[in-house]
Amino acid sequence: MKGLILAGGSGRRLRPLTHTSAKQLVPIANKPILHYVVEDLVGVGVTDLGIIVGDTAAEIRDSVGDGSRWGATVTYIEQSAPLGLAHAVVEAGVFLGDDPFVMYLGDNMFEDSLEAVVEGFAEGGGVSARLLLSRVDDPGSFGVAELGDDGSISQLVEKPENPNSDLALVGVYLFGSAIHEAVRSIQPSARGELEITDAISWLLERGDTVEHHLLDGWWIDTGKKDPLLECNRLVLDDLTADVAGSVDAASVLEGTVRVEAGAEVVGCTLVGPVVVAAGARIEDSRVGPYVSVGADCTVTDATVDHSVLMESSRVAGGAHLSDSVLGHHAEVSGGGSASLLLGDHSVVELGESTGGEGV
Ligand code: TTP
Repeated sequence: MKGLILAGGSGRRLRPLTHTSAKQLVPIANKPILHYVVEDLVGVGVTDLGIIVGDTAAEIRDSVGDGSRWGATVTYIEQSAPLGLAHAVVEAGVFLGDDPFVMYLGDNMFEDSLEAVVEGFAEGGGVSARLLLSRVDDPGSFGVAELGDDGSISQLVEKPENPNSDLALVGVYLFGSAIHEAVRSIQPSARGELEITDAISWLLERGDTVEHHLLDGWWIDTGKKDPLLECNRLVLDDLTADVAGSVDAASVLEGTVRVEAGAEVVGCTLVGPVVVAAGARIEDSRVGPYVSVGADCTVTDATVDHSVLMESSRVAGGAHLSDSVLGHHAEVSGGGSASLLLGDHSVVELGESTGGEGV
């Protein structure tokens, strides 16, 4: 079975971060989301991987390379434009051939291994697709699967106004070769994309067998700030404490804290779970809970909680950041409190009254 990872797209919902960098490379507990995706696939023996890339192709190639670090081989497939998930399957046609494959959205994360999801699928048995479903509180925001009396999927409805089901389609799909005819038979939707739900509906209408698997553990589409931070929280909940970097005697570490070799903590209170990457320096600050401090960041005279600080970002001068994502080399200073989503190299000075979101 092959793997098709979708790491192109527009990333509108995470702007301005996605103006300059790939949302699939945002670090969760200091590891890019896309690396978790590759590990999940390799973990179930799927090592022949195609990665769909768009505008951020170079950055993604730099980060994943040829896949040999995971025992995988990676083929990069440049999507001509982000015209939908089914369009990505069309453009991956040569790579996929007639092999069954797992399609994995490169900005999605799952608690559990894919083992039970992929089990038995490659053997075929005339099944055209197997969908992964999860119960959600707000089905109106998702593609939703309705089940018939026999428990099998009867239809898929995109963002239903009056949902008859709370079973949302989540970001992993298994397909046999029949999907290729389906993605070539559908028309673009109102938003101009070839929708994978339309391709699967096409299979259902033709009478193909479409199985489903109900997910137990958590699943997060990290394509927006709040779910991204929730994902950071969930992953940090499983952090293992390890202090390999330097922490001075005046600092206090509470809960689960990981300070990587080459990081420095001086005169701070770190409230776990917190992870501090190599090259970061935290001084006279209170950091945590639920903070990932990326490589070479500096936090000086500041308070940070529930946040992801990407590589070389800087917080200083009495700033209090909560629920924030800072892009590479972003800088925040000044004595106010805020919840921010900052693009790479942004500079923000907080005044006492600043409390805004998204700069
Ligand atoms: P989405 O998050 O649904 O789409 P998007 O990236 O365009 O984001 P937004 O809606 O905020 O503008 O995409 C899910 C994953 O699939 C994500 O990793 C991007 C990827 N993708 C492609 O590779 N090609 C595409 O044409 C689309 C639409 C998405």
